[in-house]
Amino acid sequence: MSQTTIAMLVGSLREDSLNARLARAIEKLSPETTAFEWVEIGDMPFYNGDLEGQRPESVTAFTAAIKRADGVCMVTPEYNRSISAVLKNAIDWGSKPMENNVWRDKPVGITGTSPGALGTALAQQHLRQIMAIQGAHVLPGEVYLSFQPDTLITPAGEITQDSAKGFLDDFARRLAAYVENHAAFLASRVESDSVSA
Ligand SMILES: Cc1cc2nc3c(=O)[nH]c(=O)nc-3n(C[C@H](O)[C@H](O)[C@H](O)COP(=O)(O)O)c2cc1C
Repeated sequence: MSQTTIAMLVGSLREDSLNARLARAIEKLSPETTAFEWVEIGDMPFYNGDLEGQRPESVTAFTAAIKRADGVCMVTPEYNRSISAVLKNAIDWGSKPMENNVWRDKPVGITGTSPGALGTALAQQHLRQIMAIQGAHVLPGEVYLSFQPDTLITPAGEITQDSAKGFLDDFARRLAAYVENHAAFLASRVESDSVSA
């Protein structure tokens, strides 16, 4: 099976981000046929329509990374029952101009973690709503993690609890298969287009 690429977006800029730990764990659990590209989202200015036509390099690097990826994995913290501003800003840049929306038809997996009992469930609901409007194909199901105790995932991405390992393994495999199926579908469409041309 050929290799697919997933762009990894972590919605926290913190050095010891719990969501970055979760993202590393997902990368480790994913099959070898999936390669991850960690994409920087913290170096873009706030979206400003006046910058259209002369987009900052950080923005064009970001949108190019999303375009070339077969799929996206968004690992979101929960900030005041929504997603972080830095993640929303990245989504906004990617959505404009409308004819170049990088999210359209992109397979996207959503997960996240917080120390609270709801473990980002509400932020994920909001993110799902935002990505649906973009025309992304969001992996069905909800995978959130209440990050307790603080050793649940080590900084290197090792999961120390079997139950968490089980459902995160399931998420990683489902996302990989979802992205692979989508890439295969796109390849077959290109083939059938060239046959009928
Ligand atoms: C501005 C702000 C708002 C927050 N709001 C929530 C919230 O609504 N729900 C929640 O579970 N945790 C909330 N938290 C706590 C975060 O879940 C916690 O700081 C978490 O570690 C952030 O993710 P990170 O470790 O990846 O940076 C909030 C934290 C910040 C800084």
